[in-house]
Amino acid sequence: MEKISTIAKKHNLFVIEDTAQALASKYKNKYLGTFGDIGCFSLGLAKLLNVGYGGLLVTNDKKLYKKIKKFRNHNIGFENDKYDELGFNFKISDITTSIGITQLQKLPKKIAHLKKIYSLYEKEFKKLDYIKLIRVNTKNEIPLYIEVVSKYKKDLMKFLQQNEIETKELPPSLHLSNHLKQKGKFKNSIYFDKYSFILPSGPNQEIKNIKKTIKVIKKFKKG
Ligand SMILES: Cc1ncc(COP(=O)(O)O)c(C=O)c1O
Repeated sequence: MEKISTIAKKHNLFVIEDTAQALASKYKNKYLGTFGDIGCFSLGLAKLLNVGYGGLLVTNDKKLYKKIKKFRNHNIGFENDKYDELGFNFKISDITTSIGITQLQKLPKKIAHLKKIYSLYEKEFKKLDYIKLIRVNTKNEIPLYIEVVSKYKKDLMKFLQQNEIETKELPPSLHLSNHLKQKGKFKNSIYFDKYSFILPSGPNQEIKNIKKTIKVIKKFKKG
């Protein structure tokens, strides 16, 4: 973030942080999403704060705050009630807001649950050489999902599926998409595309499912 902020300052640019999955996570004791001019959070189904779908943004800049508030309401001015510029209809309903407030109160409990899931996987995977956790510093970061790397990814995913355990691929490397084709090599992106996937996890995942997943993974025979 320091490097990005320096570049932004030099070229007079705004910084918008995509903190979609990083609610309540910190870097150097400061909440992610509060480093730039605007931080954006996802409130989708599988997120820490879940209202069904949609998102929210935060800013400390009063001018931006006022602009965004108008922007989400067809850009109708508060003082003069007329359309100042092009705007959108991104309003949030009272019902959705009520769900969000209730979810907010559950945050500490959910965070503790996610950390418990992480520590269960972490403890067992230390003993295995065919699967590795993509590590999270749980002192500052919330381990929303359990992402792993394995040379035996395909076989492991198949083995888990045969044992009625669902896993998930991460989204494919962006540079491979038709509309964003890039010439670079992006070897880290290719590596994670090839070897990483997501294990059962998330705020609503039951501990008994985590224990079952660990038990099955320990039975996996590599090669
Ligand atoms: C880094 C990142 N950005 C953006 C999004 C999109 O969020 P939404 O589905 O709420 O639009 C996600 C969703 O998981 C994400 O992880």
